[in-house]
Amino acid sequence: MEVIGTLEALRARLRGEPAIACVPTMGNIHQGHLSLVRIACEHAPLVVTTIFVNRLQFGANEDFDGYPRTFEDDCDSLERAGNAIVFHPNESQMYPEPQVFTVEPPAVANKLEGRFRPGHFRGVATVVLKLFNMVQPHYAVFGKKDYQQISIVRHMVEQLALPVRIIPAETVRADDGLALSSRNRYLTAEQRSEAPRLNSVLRRVREQVEAGDRNFEAIEFAADAELARHGWHVDYVVVRSRRTLMQPGARERELVVLGAAKLGNTRLIDNLEILAPA
Ligand code: PAF
Repeated sequence: MEVIGTLEALRARLRGEPAIACVPTMGNIHQGHLSLVRIACEHAPLVVTTIFVNRLQFGANEDFDGYPRTFEDDCDSLERAGNAIVFHPNESQMYPEPQVFTVEPPAVANKLEGRFRPGHFRGVATVVLKLFNMVQPHYAVFGKKDYQQISIVRHMVEQLALPVRIIPAETVRADDGLALSSRNRYLTAEQRSEAPRLNSVLRRVREQVEAGDRNFEAIEFAADAELARHGWHVDYVVVRSRRTLMQPGARERELVVLGAAKLGNTRLIDNLEILAPA
């Protein structure tokens, strides 16, 4: 596997490649990322995984410096998964000067995650656009675990006519349902055994909606209360339109339930797609 650190070397290496699939990451690679790499391998003969901890998407109260950086282990895992190239620019390669041109996503970026992480999606959209310009992939694979992220990236690609196809990948879960995340490592043993409740509460919401209940407010309230009863600090559990991530229209069927809640200091997110009955 090749590791490339500069844009110049990346461009030279990728020149003339007929099909490239990209997996953008911030490192701390786990099975969830590796499944994205495997999906990328199905779409193109050359897979480029990017590892860059993007300062722009961290809020003032978020621990950019403390974000786990595990580059050597990441490379070992990526190589075993069939990844061909790791693009690992440092801060001065990525942002040689303050990034004053940014991508301003639409208002939905200030809701859900954006409400609790102001400016987060501006940082994500900006770095993703920049990585796309650097790698110039034909395909890019993103996990559905970050549902709002993939939704915003898809919209950006569509509106800016970027020549890349976004491939959504299902969330990888532990056997007990907990979505894999770099943040799970911060859970104590006790919190780790409580953590799958987020997924089970979302599954209950899905069952209710799929059984025909459209009283979303009551369903969301009960889900929130169930988590709070077990010591979670809930940011949101909401049923939204998959298309807009806004309140679903009266007959809209393609929905998603999204949840974000904290166990101690660790904030977990999860979601499940729902197909409501006609
Ligand atoms: O999902 C992530 O790891 C990051 O938000 C991304 C897409 C790599 C941008 O920094």
